Amino acid sequence: MGRLSGKTAFISGGARGLGAEMARRMHQEGAKVMVTDVLVEEGQALAAEHENIAFFTHDVTNEAHWEAAIAKTQEVFGGLDILVNNAGITHDGTPVEDTSLEQWRKVTSIDLDAVFLGCKHGVRAMKENGGSIINVSSIYGIVGSAGQAAYHAAKGGVRLLTKGMAVEMGTLGYKIRVNSIHPGFVLTQLVRDGIKDAVEAGMMPGENEAVEGLTEATPLGRLGVPLDIANGVVFLASDESEWMTGSELVIDGGYTAQ
Ligand SMILES: NC(=O)c1ccc[n+]([C@@H]2O[C@H](COP(=O)([O-])OP(=O)(O)OC[C@H]3O[C@@H](n4cnc5c(N)ncnc54)[C@H](O)[C@@H]3O)[C@@H](O)[C@H]2O)c1
Repeated sequence: MGRLSGKTAFISGGARGLGAEMARRMHQEGAKVMVTDVLVEEGQALAAEHENIAFFTHDVTNEAHWEAAIAKTQEVFGGLDILVNNAGITHDGTPVEDTSLEQWRKVTSIDLDAVFLGCKHGVRAMKENGGSIINVSSIYGIVGSAGQAAYHAAKGGVRLLTKGMAVEMGTLGYKIRVNSIHPGFVLTQLVRDGIKDAVEAGMMPGENEAVEGLTEATPLGRLGVPLDIANGVVFLASDESEWMTGSELVIDGGYTAQ
């Protein structure tokens, strides 16, 4: 028996990076997994490699897509027990004084508004039988950095959206747990793009120096790998965390401990 046997999970933005590793780990633990993303080729390839991982094309900023994606999950796998709001982008490094409202909204619509949409439709799908919602925030939802104000605002919003929902679920008598997870630096495409933008904006010295600096600033002496984060998601998804809701699981090699 796997730790997630009998459960169905939904992961937004799961075609690559952390989300793809979450899908593989949850699948290893016995879950059926619906992966959604705007990256169709990558998502379909991941699904094709695994029985019981399916893919659905889904832009998380579109409410009708959420309804269709969750309905498809219920149709294919017969229910929904775990929702991971994982899709995300970074800001392009522009300082606040030069950022347009359009740039701001691009980040907050994917990194915060879409998490609200996922929670809304996830709760509707899970309120009868209960479940676990895991919102992927960041250490940047806890501490700040230069050139990423929109990202910080969105990820900080996710942190407290999570706590508000955790209390609300209890008040409404729904057996739905809602927790946030706060990864530190893992060299996915998102982080590589973020570092490149920061270097171009003059916020970081150079790409290699940035990676060295982040590694040196991590007490455990290395950057993260996707498995570090996926293992935390499996725990929050499983019944091992059944007395946890409204909590924030930081997995960052100690970066924010100092
Ligand atoms: N990598 C890190 O160090 C790190 C640290 C903290 C938090 N995070 C968070 O982890 C999550 C996953 O990031 P990652 O590092 O794997 O990056 P990634 O770029 O590899 O993956 C993000 C995924 O989100 C998808 N996505 C973007 N916009 C979308 C949209 N509108 N609709 C549907 N899907 C969309 C992308 O196509 C991509 O597959 C993000 O929320 C990110 O903010 C990552």
